[in-house]
Amino acid sequence: MKMYYNEDCIEGARKYIADNSIDLIITDPPYGINGDKLDKHYNRNENNVIDGYVEISEKDYPDFSKKWIKEAERVLKPGGSIYIVSGYSNLRHILNALSETRLQEKNHIIWKYNFGVYTSKKYISSHYHILYYTKKGGKEIFNTNAFYADSDKTETGQSQNYKDREDVWIINKEYKPGQIKNKNELPKTLLKKMILYSSNPNDLICDFFLGSFSTAKISIGLGRMACGFEINKNAYDYQIEQISKIQFGEYLSEQKIVPKSKLFNQRKSLLDTEIDQIVLDFNSLIKKGFTKKDAINNISEKFGRGYWSILNILKKEKSIIDYKMEKTLWDAQ
Ligand SMILES: C[S@@+](CC[C@H](N)C(=O)[O-])C[C@H]1O[C@@H](n2cnc3c(N)ncnc32)[C@H](O)[C@@H]1O
Repeated sequence: MKMYYNEDCIEGARKYIADNSIDLIITDPPYGINGDKLDKHYNRNENNVIDGYVEISEKDYPDFSKKWIKEAERVLKPGGSIYIVSGYSNLRHILNALSETRLQEKNHIIWKYNFGVYTSKKYISSHYHILYYTKKGGKEIFNTNAFYADSDKTETGQSQNYKDREDVWIINKEYKPGQIKNKNELPKTLLKKMILYSSNPNDLICDFFLGSFSTAKISIGLGRMACGFEINKNAYDYQIEQISKIQFGEYLSEQKIVPKSKLFNQRKSLLDTEIDQIVLDFNSLIKKGFTKKDAINNISEKFGRGYWSILNILKKEKSIIDYKMEKTLWDAQ
């Protein structure tokens, strides 16, 4: 089955992609800042950059954004996620276009990269915006423990999981001396992050602006399916060859295995019998000499619920906790 098209994404999506069929969209539209001259800004040797990058003029940018974002909304499954990478010059047009859809904003992420464009009379620009939205009406995928377990700590004792899920991402661009590339190629680390948090194995991931096919390559490498569009024939012809060399799932071995979250029952409602058992366990652990904190931690592990959730259950059930236990419970706070 054909998955990649050398066509305009708006026309192509209308022709080939069914409503509600895509699990995740990750895309990086042309920035509307004369991308064909980006080499001048970045002061790079352009010999290895594929010719024919197609830009959108400033005048056309608002209408173009509305059209492709409308198609993206149509093809996304209910519950599916979309990440749009944007510079700041035309960010307002992307935000306007998104506001005309029913997609809901989850995060406005700042991606801070290295090698900002040098300027001497103003601050050096070294970030992009990533707009993360979802389509209402289905179960959303957000793999909270995609990279870190709840218990993983940084060197300074902070939660790695929390840090990794902050909305400012510091990820370096890749420096690929001597390799054929697209302008603005997204780094593998950045793509892995969006793919692993927001999709599951075998999901279908679409990129409306494939460029170097980076989204598609990393998706295939992570055991997902991929599809998309690239209007530049030079890029398309070269990259269609390259992507065929990537083995399905070959990057999965680079990922560390994250143990299942200890909070396996988080947000599930507990049965009355389980609540009774929590109270019984608490009474019996306190009788054995456990401190309140240790007893609750012990129960928290057994029932897969957080410390505060167990404490709240005990507070609600305090009428059935032994008076002595109750005293221990409340005095110890
Ligand atoms: C910012 S680049 C994408 C870079 C890509 N994410 C990567 O990592 O290589 C935008 C790409 O969109 C392509 N493009 C421009 N207009 C298009 C359209 N209407 N349909 C499909 N592709 C288009 C450009 O040729 C360019 O390769």
